[in-house]
Amino acid sequence: MSTFWSWYITLLTLGSLLALFWLIFATRKGERKGTTEQTMGHSFDGIEEYDNPLPKWWFMLFLATLVFALGYLALYPGLGNWKGLLPGYQDGWTQVAQWQREVDTAERAYGPIFAQYAAMPLEEVAKDPQALKMGGRLFATYCSICHGSDAKGAVGFPDLTDRHWRWGGDAETIKASILGGRNGMMPAWGQALGDDGVRQVAAYVRNRLAGLPLAEGSAIHLEKGAELFASNCAACHGAAGTGLAMLGAPDLTQPAGWIYGASLAQLQQTIRYGRNGQMPAQEQYLGNDKVHLLAAYVLSLSRDGDAAPRLSQH
Ligand code: HEC
Ligand code: HEC
Repeated sequence: MSTFWSWYITLLTLGSLLALFWLIFATRKGERKGTTEQTMGHSFDGIEEYDNPLPKWWFMLFLATLVFALGYLALYPGLGNWKGLLPGYQDGWTQVAQWQREVDTAERAYGPIFAQYAAMPLEEVAKDPQALKMGGRLFATYCSICHGSDAKGAVGFPDLTDRHWRWGGDAETIKASILGGRNGMMPAWGQALGDDGVRQVAAYVRNRLAGLPLAEGSAIHLEKGAELFASNCAACHGAAGTGLAMLGAPDLTQPAGWIYGASLAQLQQTIRYGRNGQMPAQEQYLGNDKVHLLAAYVLSLSRDGDAAPRLSQH
């Protein structure tokens, strides 16, 4: 900052501290020594105030905060361009720089361990308890906000512990999903199919593909739904509705793997307006080595019946 603003801030800050010193001593002058039953003479909601001196501890505490402030301002960069007496703030202090310093320290400590696991095949890392513990912590920090702390997902976010995969559940595909991110693009069909068409194809998906019951008496033309599916949906979801991993088009015969809901209303919503699930790419952000550990962790979660450690256990 310019010299003017530097002096402005310095003088304003020190001036204010000085004024507070003055205030605390000035108001002590002429103060009564002992305690009294006499009140200040005003009352608020029936609450009155005795005309007593400040308690000593309060006065000392006030002084201590002023001394602390001076010490702090001497040690850290707070006064204009003053760099502080402590080393490490020669470029001033910013939250970003402090964060970066901590990241760098952690990187020096853990980088070699991450690198060591990154050189091992995912299947092997997924059996290493130490690696899974580290992967679990990374997951809690970077993934649980969307996939849940137990990795079981939520509406719009896939469960990573089950056997249903949108893009594929083998080790390398899981790693690719995390590294590069994924973008599931289900087009909106409301315009093309109209209300009747959406209802019919939704009923077809729910009943004939997913094998779920339809409400009694709902007179919906399932044959028409089948036709609409074959001509509009099969290209991505497959003729039998079993999905296409290359596009992230889910298997419509396995409602347990769906993320947008299986009720008729939810299906109609999905089909009418489309869906656009976004898994953010982690390559730039976390780098290959951490993603390797995360992929191993996710792989370990999805193995049926395996006693892999879950997040909730550490
Ligand atoms: C261009 C390819 C494409 C076409 C055509 C397509 N879908 Fe999809 N569909 C997808 C993708 C990709 C997703 C996953 C979207 C996401 O993850 O956000 C999806 C998701 C869905 C879902 C949600 C499943 C869940 O997880 O809740 C349903 C239901 C569905 N599609 C039904 C249909 C029907 C019915 C049609 C035809 C009218 C259709 N889709 C046509 C690609 C397609
Ligand atoms: C901002 C929310 C968000 C965050 C953070 C996030 N994900 Fe995802 N993830 C998603 C969504 C949404 C999908 C589904 C994408 C789609 O529609 O196909 C997904 C899909 C995936 C898939 C593919 C699942 C499948 O069925 O093929 C994997 C694996 C995955 N995420 C792992 C992770 C890991 C590991 C992390 C932590 C580094 C993470 N995700 C962080 C939202 C998120």
